[in-house]
Amino acid sequence: MSRTVKDYVRSIHDFPHEGIIFRDVTTLFADARGFRMAVDQILHAYAGTRIDKVVGLEARGFILGGAVAHQLSTGFVPIRKKGKLPGTVISEAYQLEYGEAIMEIHDDALKPGEKVLIVDDLLATGGTAAAAITLCRRLGAEVIGCAFVIDLPELGGRRVLEGMDMPVHALCDFEGA
Ligand code: PRP
Ligand code: MG
Repeated sequence: MSRTVKDYVRSIHDFPHEGIIFRDVTTLFADARGFRMAVDQILHAYAGTRIDKVVGLEARGFILGGAVAHQLSTGFVPIRKKGKLPGTVISEAYQLEYGEAIMEIHDDALKPGEKVLIVDDLLATGGTAAAAITLCRRLGAEVIGCAFVIDLPELGGRRVLEGMDMPVHALCDFEGA
């Protein structure tokens, strides 16, 4: 049997806390066939859809989103955690398990009407991606979808994003997050 994207994801128990299983995509990205498979499956999901820019979410969304943007011959735009981008930014807060975090985008990174694909490694509660969608929309861009390698369905992120009228595409999911 040939390996699937999911087969390349490593599960590490008790990281970063006891009881958590960390779904590690570094093993997927490190494998030439696995990495190409992941990128190709994302491209396939959006074949025929106009995409003007790929937006990647810090940190692993940069790796995947950069490769997707290169294949699509589009530009790549990073959304980063607070304080990392050098230019003028707009910010959006989102909830973490404990407390709040802030994501930022350069205020001139997207033009009104541009069609954007958001890419990240993993969808959990959806807070990160929801903040990213809001940032893109505040700049007037049209987010056509959010693509992830992994969905953790029990954490409900897909429902959150679909509640924002956002189509979600994940290459695999893991139960028991
Ligand atoms: C992880 C993951 C997603 C986000 C998903 O990133 O890479 O970006 O959490 O969680 P959510 O759906 O509950 O928002 P993390 O915040 O750990 O940061 P990192 O990617 O910079 O390591
Ligand atoms: Mg992340």
